[in-house]
Amino acid sequence: MPNNRDVAILILAAGKGTRLKSSLAKVLHCAGGRPLVEHVVRSCAGVGAKKIIVVVGHQAEQVEAAVEPLGVQIVLQQPQNGTGHALLVSKRAIGNAKYVIVLPGDAPLIRTETLKALIHKHKKGQAAATLLTAVLGDPSGYGRILRKGGDAVQAIIEESQLTPETRDLNEINASMYCFTAAKLWPALAKVKPENKHHEIYLTDAVAVLNAAGETVLAEVAPDGREMLGCNTRADLAGVDHTFRDWKREALMRDGVTIQLPETVMVDPDVIIGEDTILEPCVQILGKSKIGAHCVIKTGSVIHDSVLGDEVIVEPHCVISQSRLDSDVVVGPFARVRMETHLKAGSRIGNFVELKKSAVGEGTKAMHLSYLGDAKIGTKTNIGAGTITCNYDGFTKNPTTIGNKVFIGSDSALVAPVKVGDGAYVAAGSTITDNVPADALGIARGRQVNKPGWAGKKRRELAAVQKPAKRKKRR
Ligand code: UD1
Ligand code: MG
Repeated sequence: MPNNRDVAILILAAGKGTRLKSSLAKVLHCAGGRPLVEHVVRSCAGVGAKKIIVVVGHQAEQVEAAVEPLGVQIVLQQPQNGTGHALLVSKRAIGNAKYVIVLPGDAPLIRTETLKALIHKHKKGQAAATLLTAVLGDPSGYGRILRKGGDAVQAIIEESQLTPETRDLNEINASMYCFTAAKLWPALAKVKPENKHHEIYLTDAVAVLNAAGETVLAEVAPDGREMLGCNTRADLAGVDHTFRDWKREALMRDGVTIQLPETVMVDPDVIIGEDTILEPCVQILGKSKIGAHCVIKTGSVIHDSVLGDEVIVEPHCVISQSRLDSDVVVGPFARVRMETHLKAGSRIGNFVELKKSAVGEGTKAMHLSYLGDAKIGTKTNIGAGTITCNYDGFTKNPTTIGNKVFIGSDSALVAPVKVGDGAYVAAGSTITDNVPADALGIARGRQVNKPGWAGKKRRELAAVQKPAKRKKRR
């Protein structure tokens, strides 16, 4: 493995991204579940370079906040006078690195292996500059590569400067370069801001190097998609699509079944075990971890949650920031959120919402309930329509329900309240006091039956009722 400690990587992330028509800086837009610039930094991290520098300018503080936790160095470019200018302001930060990799912060699909291959080619070819390129069916929006023949590059022509002779060039400049520092700085010093925007274009340094007789090489990237930048919303959607494809392909290689893969969205940090099945239109997001032999059925969304093995999530559930142990069944149409813990073998049925609750092993809440701030023991049955009234208008209060408890349907448990092991709560109760273990808690109006009442009422009504109007015949 060659050592890349003589390389500094510079990520250009100071631009505004006017074509996105957004109040958010371009490099902070997300594709594939992360901000664009974060993808670039992560790919660079595997290269083994001496340092990674991110050039910030537009919305500098926000961009810095996004990348600094990843251990990069920051350079401020203010104002942003072009890609060449971004390099000039970074000269001191680059220091004495022998080679400089330059990458745009808006081309997030670049992979570590491709960067390593670029450095390898550059060093082997003893070039002044080596460019990564792609040949595109529609090269619009990119600078184009004018070759001298073979691997050698004569110049990069910006789209705005294309002439009738160069209009058909379809090899694009991806803005991904490896420079030999000693050759780069003198060439860049000669570049003038002679263009419509009065910017210093890094691309012009390539023509300067070529004119000075230096070697400039270009390599077509093995997968052209890695070169794609994001100038427009459509570009963002295209790049996101590729990331999602790659993630699904990786999961399927690792033994996950994905039905109608095009409809399934999985974030990059998600881990899924073997033989788990993802049905159509499922989303698994954030840092979720799903065990083996699970079935996540159609329309379910799982966010930042951990599921054990053999968990079944029936259709259309929303699960966030929660833990589901092995052999749990949830849904259909259940919502499980905010640090809820469903222990092994528990069952949560349709239209049940859980918030910050722990549900014991083998416990069931099968229909139409809200369980918030509740701690429920093992093998307990929560009847249909049970509500924990956890909020008193000021604070959230806990409900504690023991083991082998039976909560009758349509009960309201007004927290703070406790129901002891083995207790019963009668259906329709509003429980405001603790129910001791093995007791029956009943809190509702006592039933009164009035014999013959209904028949008497009907006769009274019939006596006073007017005969119904007959419809006139025509
Ligand atoms: C640039 C290239 C073009 C190439 C394209 C690839 C130049 C002059 N042109 O054009 O040949 O095909 O990228 O996507 O380099 N940035 C700064 N500071 C600046 C200006 C830009 O940091 O002063 C950053 C931007 O945030 C962005 C990157 O550099 O991440 C590229 O800038 P952008 O404005 O997208 O350049 P393009 O016009 O796309
Ligand atoms: Mg661009």
